[in-house]
Amino acid sequence: MIRVEGLTKDYGPRRAISDLTFNADRGEIVGFLGPNGAGKTTTMRILTGFMPPTYGKAEVAGFDIIEQSLEVRRRVGYMPETVPLYPDMTVFEYLKFMADLRRVPEADDRVIDILETLQMDDRADSYISNLSKGMRQRVGLGQALVHDPEVLILDEPTIGLDPAQIIDVRNLIREVGREHTVLLSTHILSEAQQICNRVLIINKGRIVAEDTPERLQARLTGAQRVVLVVGGEAEGVGRVVEGVPGVLAVAGETDGRLEFETEPGKDPRPEVARAVVNAGFNLLELRPVGMSLEDIFLQLTRDEPSPPETSDEAFYDDDEPDDEAEDWDDEAGS
Ligand SMILES: Nc1ncnc2c1ncn2[C@@H]1O[C@H](COP(=O)(O)OP(=O)(O)O)[C@@H](O)[C@H]1O
Ligand SMILES: [Mg+2]
Repeated sequence: MIRVEGLTKDYGPRRAISDLTFNADRGEIVGFLGPNGAGKTTTMRILTGFMPPTYGKAEVAGFDIIEQSLEVRRRVGYMPETVPLYPDMTVFEYLKFMADLRRVPEADDRVIDILETLQMDDRADSYISNLSKGMRQRVGLGQALVHDPEVLILDEPTIGLDPAQIIDVRNLIREVGREHTVLLSTHILSEAQQICNRVLIINKGRIVAEDTPERLQARLTGAQRVVLVVGGEAEGVGRVVEGVPGVLAVAGETDGRLEFETEPGKDPRPEVARAVVNAGFNLLELRPVGMSLEDIFLQLTRDEPSPPETSDEAFYDDDEPDDEAEDWDDEAGS
């Protein structure tokens, strides 16, 4: 199990994660869903004892991550974003090496078991350098499992895999999740929905929503983004659209074109059309466009009351223009 309370990490002046509190129990697969820069890797590195938090505390498998980090490391399997594999070793040699490092008793038998779980029995003697990305990912999962840890922490385990490999790795995680506590990160909504029992949505270092995949789906169903275009005089059309019930967040108004999002489960397009025409505008286009993951996050996070303290926010406003999380900020503000 994992218990996290008030976990906060500052990199110099920059707050990467802020006051995270959550739990994960045995037999649960908890998804950490968020865009790049949200703080997923930072949290996982803290929970696996790679670095200390700035504030807050956490227990993994019943041990304190700071005071008892050796005990934690013994009981946690970690698959980082890029698993450090040794290309000159065979699959068997590598897993055996990792097993010995962690003092696994009867390591040879254990590695044979793991290879079976990974469905890689026939690749035991393949050199890692000759493996496909999907196979390497499985070996990465294998090293995380070899000491039979209570808790598994998987950082974007399906990133870079082709669709068939993704299915394999997801099935494997589901299998493993029955008897372990699994925390996995992903920036793919559908992945979180497919593998996880519970999803924590993290954005800009904060947990902004927590839900079962089913409820998350329900919250998102029907929400859509709509493009509206009027011809000729367009002054004030945004205000008219904004006033229609079921319309959220009008954005990007330029030259008679704007976008708006609809409340989940509502389709206010007929009312929007009527309102726009009645106000004397020439309606040319009213068309739904797909929502990106970013849109979905924005929508989910919009309703969250923002915390009153503003000091934290300052950390996100400073100078790191290339950060993807910052782009969101811009969109959210517009
Ligand atoms: N070693 C580091 N030094 C300074 N800033 C960092 C470091 N690692 C991550 N960050 C910053 O912390 C934030 C969270 O990053 P990260 O935990 O890697 O997010 P994610 O894994 O969700 O993409 C980002 O803004 C990132 O730029
Ligand atoms: Mg990451």
